[in-house]
Amino acid sequence: MVVPQPVLEAAVDARRVVVVTGAGMSAESGVPTFRDAQTGLWEQYAAEDLATPEAWERDPAFVWAWYLSRFGAVAHVQPNAGHLALARWAGTAADGARSASVRVVTQNIDDLHERAGSHDVVHLHGSLTSFRCERCETAYAGSVDVPEQPVERVDPPTCPRCGGLVRPGVVWFGELLPLEVWEQAVALVEDADLVLVVGTSGIVHPAAGLPVLARGAGAVVVEVNPLETDVSDVAHVVWRETAALALPALVAEVEARRGQD
Ligand code: APR
Repeated sequence: MVVPQPVLEAAVDARRVVVVTGAGMSAESGVPTFRDAQTGLWEQYAAEDLATPEAWERDPAFVWAWYLSRFGAVAHVQPNAGHLALARWAGTAADGARSASVRVVTQNIDDLHERAGSHDVVHLHGSLTSFRCERCETAYAGSVDVPEQPVERVDPPTCPRCGGLVRPGVVWFGELLPLEVWEQAVALVEDADLVLVVGTSGIVHPAAGLPVLARGAGAVVVEVNPLETDVSDVAHVVWRETAALALPALVAEVEARRGQD
């Protein structure tokens, strides 16, 4: 695996690295990307039709069952070599002779970055592992029973505080990102020397605007994606490679170069 020279140079020199990830980051762990076709009980639905307040209003048990199936699917897969490389890079950076911070800003709602060892991951679209009351917004810490096999409808729990329905702690289409999360993501990319954009089609805003903000603020922007995307024109360097192949190769080269310094 040859790391493109401009990517390696930028990575070795960078003091503040931000990695913006999308569904492609988890693809090699076996998690379908958002725009992959749905499978199983929900194969006739597009994710965009299920991840909406309207779908929840119409049939909360159906949407809740879909999220439980995704929760179960993620629980049965492992972080891939790309997730592990990012966590290692941050660790090396923290201990390495030339300090550099490596932060992850993800659109993904899985916890694979955390399970790989990344800390303080910024989840723009929330998380599969967090739940809240749809009415009083109280975080739900109660038990969530995930069926062994996906079932089509499961009644969501009710909030112990107000009796409202407990919903997934994710940002649905048409909903606003939490302002403090968005502001944190913007501050990170605008302060970065290097922004890697990994595994996102760059379709969904405002997340898709982060590479533009990064470039405008002077960061080197690198896209890691096997396919052309809406981000490609914004990137200084396009690396047509997958996350689980590109990121370990990059981190190994950065460590080797650091070891020589
Ligand atoms: N490595 C890197 N990139 C990959 C890989 C891989 N192994 N496999 C696929 N990709 C790329 C695809 O080429 C595509 O560009 O990942 C991208 C996945 O795009 P989407 O499925 O659109 O996912 P994403 O960009 O994360 O969607 C953004 O949209 O639907 C909403 O909230 C949802 O967070 C999601 C957001």
